[in-house]
Amino acid sequence: MQTRFTDRFQLKYPIACAPMAMVSGGILAGAVSRAGGLGLIGGGYGNAEWIAQEHALAGDTPVGGGLITWMVDKQPDILDAALSNKPWVFMLSFGDPRPYARKIKDSCSALFCQVQRLSQLDLALEAGADVIVAQSSEAGGHGMNNRATLTLVPEVADILAARAPNTLLLAAGGIADGRGLAAALTLGADGVLVGSRLWASRESLAHQASKALAVRLTGDDTDRSIVFDILRELSWPEGYSFRALKNTMTERWSGREDQLLQVVEEERAKYLAAVAAGDFSIAHSTAGQAIGMIHDIPTAAEILERMDKQAADVLLRLGRRT
Ligand SMILES: Cc1cc2nc3c(=O)[nH]c(=O)nc-3n(C[C@H](O)[C@H](O)[C@H](O)COP(=O)(O)O)c2cc1C
Repeated sequence: MQTRFTDRFQLKYPIACAPMAMVSGGILAGAVSRAGGLGLIGGGYGNAEWIAQEHALAGDTPVGGGLITWMVDKQPDILDAALSNKPWVFMLSFGDPRPYARKIKDSCSALFCQVQRLSQLDLALEAGADVIVAQSSEAGGHGMNNRATLTLVPEVADILAARAPNTLLLAAGGIADGRGLAAALTLGADGVLVGSRLWASRESLAHQASKALAVRLTGDDTDRSIVFDILRELSWPEGYSFRALKNTMTERWSGREDQLLQVVEEERAKYLAAVAAGDFSIAHSTAGQAIGMIHDIPTAAEILERMDKQAADVLLRLGRRT
């Protein structure tokens, strides 16, 4: 599948691997880039030592990086540390990218900005983003409620066509197979940014038990909440929530966060013990609604090849029919 995204970055597939914090390490990002996609290392909250180690694991394969923007606001040094690894491209999500855009654009080949709202798109365009990632609420991990891929992507595509025609667009959220890739291209995206499907790959750093659990579940089995942020003492800005597999923690506390705060020390101790033990009936498994389409744990290269082939087949078949 050839798109503006594959042309711009010389890729075989119009697919980027999301910079999933502590999940997209150098082995996964490197595998995606080597297979012909664009792999990004998930710098997340900015552990400089971990980021450097993962870049080293990617070897000579060009990979990108990413950080959580509101964390960079708190500790600007983490951006310098991340950029010192010479990422191919760099993605900022969850905050105002404008203060950091110049530095990023000077040190790597493109700035990617992930947005959930049109107001954030304005900031990303002011920052001079080369690639916009439109993330809908189906997505795994942090994001916002209320916008679905089917409406967010064409709305952003129309705005980009009118205001910034050279800026590329990736769709993110709920895309796990070739049907999703074909749909995203049909909606006006130049490619997709995939999280959950690559989370359930052999190379991802996600816990084996967590991946094994996810492949048995359906899209009904995830939920957005701030329960795990409270348990992890992460103070995310207003409006953001976290999509993960439902479990006893979310079933008990989602919508009852005030009560959770009253017993938070006790619940946090249970949660931390479960993380250490790999007990995902209590610990979080970060995956989105796409898990309903994920039934195995192949290599990243197999995932990319399958998605691309299925998308091409779907588009060809539909083209023939019409
Ligand atoms: C395990 C996991 C961790 C994530 N961590 C980050 C992160 O650190 N930074 C970020 O910008 N997005 C993160 N995301 C969101 C992705 O960038 C992307 O928007 C999302 O995975 C796309 O939806 P999908 O999961 O349905 O493919 C994460 C997603 C997952 C599944």
